[in-house]
Amino acid sequence: MSLGHFYLQAVCLSLTLLMTFTPAEGAPTTTSAQTTLAGDALNEILTRGEPILGVNKGCTKGSKTCDWMASIPDNTPIVHMNLPGTHDTSTWNYTAETQGALERYTGPLPPSDVFRCQQDSIFDSLNDGIRVFDMRYSYNPGNDTIGFYHGSALLSPTTTLEDVLFGFYSWLIQHPTEAVFISLKYESGPGRSYDAALQTKLYHALFDGPAKRFWVQKENQLGTLGQARGKITLLQRFDWDFLDPATFPNRMGLHLSPSVWTDNGPSIELLYNNQTTPQGIAYIEDFYEPLTTGGPGPAVDAKFAAVSQHLQNATSNAHPDQLFITFSSAEVNTDGVFPRYMALGNDTTPGVNHRLLPFLKDLHAAAPHGKARVGMIMLDFYKNVPGLIEAVIGI
Ligand SMILES: *[C@@H]1O[C@H](CO)[C@@H](O)[C@H](O)[C@H]1NC(C)=O
Ligand SMILES: *[C@@H]1O[C@H](CO)[C@@H](O)[C@H](O)[C@H]1NC(C)=O
Ligand SMILES: *[C@@H]1O[C@H](CO)[C@@H](O)[C@H](O)[C@H]1NC(C)=O
Ligand SMILES: *[C@@H]1O[C@H](CO)[C@@H](O)[C@H](O)[C@H]1NC(C)=O
Ligand SMILES: *[C@@H]1O[C@H](CO)[C@@H](O)[C@H](O)[C@H]1NC(C)=O
Repeated sequence: MSLGHFYLQAVCLSLTLLMTFTPAEGAPTTTSAQTTLAGDALNEILTRGEPILGVNKGCTKGSKTCDWMASIPDNTPIVHMNLPGTHDTSTWNYTAETQGALERYTGPLPPSDVFRCQQDSIFDSLNDGIRVFDMRYSYNPGNDTIGFYHGSALLSPTTTLEDVLFGFYSWLIQHPTEAVFISLKYESGPGRSYDAALQTKLYHALFDGPAKRFWVQKENQLGTLGQARGKITLLQRFDWDFLDPATFPNRMGLHLSPSVWTDNGPSIELLYNNQTTPQGIAYIEDFYEPLTTGGPGPAVDAKFAAVSQHLQNATSNAHPDQLFITFSSAEVNTDGVFPRYMALGNDTTPGVNHRLLPFLKDLHAAAPHGKARVGMIMLDFYKNVPGLIEAVIGI
């Protein structure tokens, strides 16, 4: 049995025990040794996952957004919900120091600010109410495990996809009312290969062991919140192009294929299901690089024009039952407008996040029952503008 399988089994057991016993009453003595063993295995995995997951410090007391889905009815279609997300989630600790420590793997790179899009960990984001996570994977150095990247920036050489998924599972056990969405996209880069072995590893991570219980198994359809609670829904931004479906038959999530996702598109209409009536279409704004000059001012103007138009479309009656995804994140690195300046502006110019907050409040105020459907919004540096998550959700 490989080490990977050992961990999978130990953690399966530990997750099962976590779900079976309430800590308040204490675990029955006959299984306390097993509980300890399983707990140790989970702790080891979470420690290895820390550079990407962070540490779960729990929710801020009195937080409105901790378990915000608890008050939303089970029969709510996912496509009618407002879901705050983080773009390039895994970059939250990619400082100059982290980059320096990893340059022995990557070689010298542009400044870390070019790659950094977040400053809050996955656990902090979950506890803050973020529910959609944009994760970019590739081989870790050594080509044995799957890890996380933003472009050529390696984010942690020792953390694996499996470690991070167990982190999500452990959070979901504690927050069974919540539904989480993970977008997985293959990140190409120098010295990294995209091959059948990588896809086979990914397939096992997504379908083996405890995964079946924690991932929504529907294919190319978004159901209701009730069906998605306590689970992860996959947004599949990659193709299973190396795997023979006869040998690897499982599929789940929405297939948002990179082959039809227009690069830098301000208004993408992505058909993911032609079998249903109406067909399944995702409306996506992913205008990540406006290529303006003149600093944050013109860059934020160009980006916000795309964001605001797309959000107007999301709230209109044109496609009420289709998925809308709006990336509020962008950069013009060529003009020194790194993701942070796009999101937060500079001392004299407001960023996209500052403009998004009142815009969202106005959209909700103008809508029936005080809540407009804005869909998924993928944010950079969400926490620097307090109230942004509430404004996305509409609470
Ligand atoms: C974040 O990066 C710093 C500097 O590289 C490192 O010391 C720290 O351990 C990292 N944090 C986590 C949670 O990995
Ligand atoms: C990993 O794969 C890449 C691309 O095929 C190759 O260039 C590199 O040498 C491999 N690294 C190791 C450690 O095997
Ligand atoms: C429907 O989608 C399937 C799978 O993506 C594709 O193979 C097929 O060509 C599509 N059919 C039409 C009529 O577009
Ligand atoms: C802040 O952004 C404005 C608008 O793009 C620009 O004119 C100004 O030079 C920037 N300030 C600094 C200190 O970079
Ligand atoms: C908004 O909808 C209109 C009409 O369907 C379409 O032409 C336009 O491209 C959409 N804009 C965005 C930004 O989604």
